[in-house]
Amino acid sequence: MFLTLFTGAAAAGLFGIQDGGKPGAENMEDAARLSSLTEQTVDPAEWGKLFPAQYAGYLRTSERTGTKYGGGGSGAAARSRLDENPRLKTLFAGYAFGADYRARRGHAYMLSDQRETLRVQAPFNQSGACLQCHSSNVTVYRSQGIADGASGSLSDPLASRNGYAQLLRGFEKVGKMPFEEATKLVSHPLACIDCHDPKTMSLRVTRPAFIQGIRAFAASEATAALFPSIEKWRAGNRADPYDPNETASRQELRSFVCGQCHAEYGHGSETTLFYPWNNGLKGDDIESYYNSYKMPDGRIFSDWKHAESGADVLKAQHPEFELWSQGIHSRSGVSCADCHMPSGKEGETRVSDHWVRSPLLGKLEACQDCHKSTTAEEVRAEVEDIQERTNRMLRRAEESVVDLIRAIAAARAEGYEDMQLLEAQEFQRGAQWRVDFIGSENSMGVHASGEAFRMLTEAIDLAARGRTALYNMQLR
Ligand code: HEC
Ligand code: HEC
Ligand code: HEC
Ligand code: HEC
Ligand code: HEC
Repeated sequence: MFLTLFTGAAAAGLFGIQDGGKPGAENMEDAARLSSLTEQTVDPAEWGKLFPAQYAGYLRTSERTGTKYGGGGSGAAARSRLDENPRLKTLFAGYAFGADYRARRGHAYMLSDQRETLRVQAPFNQSGACLQCHSSNVTVYRSQGIADGASGSLSDPLASRNGYAQLLRGFEKVGKMPFEEATKLVSHPLACIDCHDPKTMSLRVTRPAFIQGIRAFAASEATAALFPSIEKWRAGNRADPYDPNETASRQELRSFVCGQCHAEYGHGSETTLFYPWNNGLKGDDIESYYNSYKMPDGRIFSDWKHAESGADVLKAQHPEFELWSQGIHSRSGVSCADCHMPSGKEGETRVSDHWVRSPLLGKLEACQDCHKSTTAEEVRAEVEDIQERTNRMLRRAEESVVDLIRAIAAARAEGYEDMQLLEAQEFQRGAQWRVDFIGSENSMGVHASGEAFRMLTEAIDLAARGRTALYNMQLR
């Protein structure tokens, strides 16, 4: 069961639409008017004049929906993950996520939800790095980069030496600003220009951290069988870095445009936002990269010091792209858009559903292109079965890590020093990373059920070993 709620006026506010661009405004101009779109046409209402069907779908991301595990629900604020699951308060003690952590909802809300979360308020002051995945910012980054001395102008194509240099320079500049200052520079959530080239309408990626992260992944030793354009680049002379906008196939881009935000990221007061893919996309590859990443003061990378156990721990965040990369669907060539933006026909033209949402809210027609021998209801049941099993294991694994945290905290209270507790704390770091990787991933196991199960099993094992280490230490 799910609920929907929709008010046009509220939606217009969320999207930053000023001049009454109405969904479905039947203003189908000749596509030649594409020439009216430029690298400065940020307002989706302008694009909507040429592509009303896609625009109407895009506006519907403001509808408040939910499934058992998906969406934010019908309330004015998205449902709180902390209220639903008090174990998360222990897992994230001492970190911003322990104060306010909600379910995700439609794209329309990304900018306002970020501005409203307690995580951007004192004492958790954030930087402009937060903007990267919550706003339409390709134009802002480039203009800021140009103002900072990058050569060329906004009329350079994005995928050119100048275009990328402007983008990266602006990204670094905005990333260093205080959040309150940076967020004033943007006025739309994710918009057409962030996924489409205004001159050709072809798909493109615009998030600087994705462009850099996928380059680092391409340059790594990790298998890239999923991405033929990366394998091709590897086989070449590698004179220029891998460029997804020049070489990725349409099918690859149908996942990259989503992976540019639905991905794990590292950042901190001393580091520029980065995607930790230098060793590969698997959860363990990311962990090993963080474990080898030295902060400016020489310590290994960590997101925070756990308030109860003193362990230096990591926070995983929405690794949808990474978990998908480990599953049966990516191996079978199924992209994010295949399931989350299925296409249909309007008259003679193809329209991809730009109301990006849980596939379970739809009729699952797209699934049946491949799952021919099963009915939509059977596919749904299979999804739900995976989610139930994952949820059960996830809760067990969380309990196991919470037990370890309590045991370390008790030892500290008895007077043991952090030096003595290091082994147990390291087990907490590994166990917590695995639990959080699957818990913060938003499909409840569906994107790669076997991999999700493996990581949760390892989390339980590592947490148990941490408790054993503690026990042995106390015996000595
Ligand atoms: C085989 C189809 C399929 C593919 C491919 C797929 N997903 Fe999903 N995704 C699902 C299903 C099913 C769910 C569970 C939805 C639910 O619980 O309501 C889901 C859940 C999600 C959610 C949470 C949705 C919500 O409503 O809360 C996000 C975000 C997401 N996927 C993003 C992605 C991204 C990004 C990719 C590509 C890297 C991707 N998905 C690939 C089927 C797919
Ligand atoms: C600019 C970054 C960005 C891009 C690009 C992006 N997303 Fe999202 N997505 C978000 C954010 C942020 C949220 C959560 C918004 C909130 O909760 O306020 C979200 C939410 C979602 C949801 C939950 C929707 C709901 O109704 O609950 C789904 C599903 C999803 N995205 C899938 C995708 C897919 C599929 C793609 C690619 C076609 C994609 N996203 C591209 C940032 C992005
Ligand atoms: C790498 C891209 C990326 C960056 C950087 C990013 N976010 Fe998000 N954010 C997302 C995606 C994707 C979602 C939706 C999926 C989810 O909720 O897990 C999201 C969801 C959210 C939500 C709604 C759900 C929740 O967690 O309560 C808030 C609030 C939020 N982000 C705040 C922030 C803040 C504050 C920062 C800066 C520290 C930030 N984001 C940086 C991609 C990003
Ligand atoms: C998160 C990325 C994303 C955003 C934002 C986005 N699109 Fe798309 N769009 C896609 C994908 C993926 C496709 C499928 C492209 C393909 O397979 O070649 C698509 C396809 C299209 C097409 C080609 C016909 C079709 O529907 O398949 C048009 C036209 C289009 N989008 C218009 C828009 C407009 C207008 C906006 C803004 C209101 C917009 N898009 C925003 C990802 C996006
Ligand atoms: C391009 C083909 C293709 C599409 C489209 C597709 N699938 Fe699949 N799916 C597969 C293949 C191949 C398998 C593995 C063999 C099998 O179980 O049938 C699979 C397996 C699954 C499984 C079992 C996965 C597991 O981890 O055990 C589920 C659940 C599933 N698909 C759901 C969906 C849903 C939901 C959609 C649509 C939103 C979808 N599929 C769309 C090809 C596809």
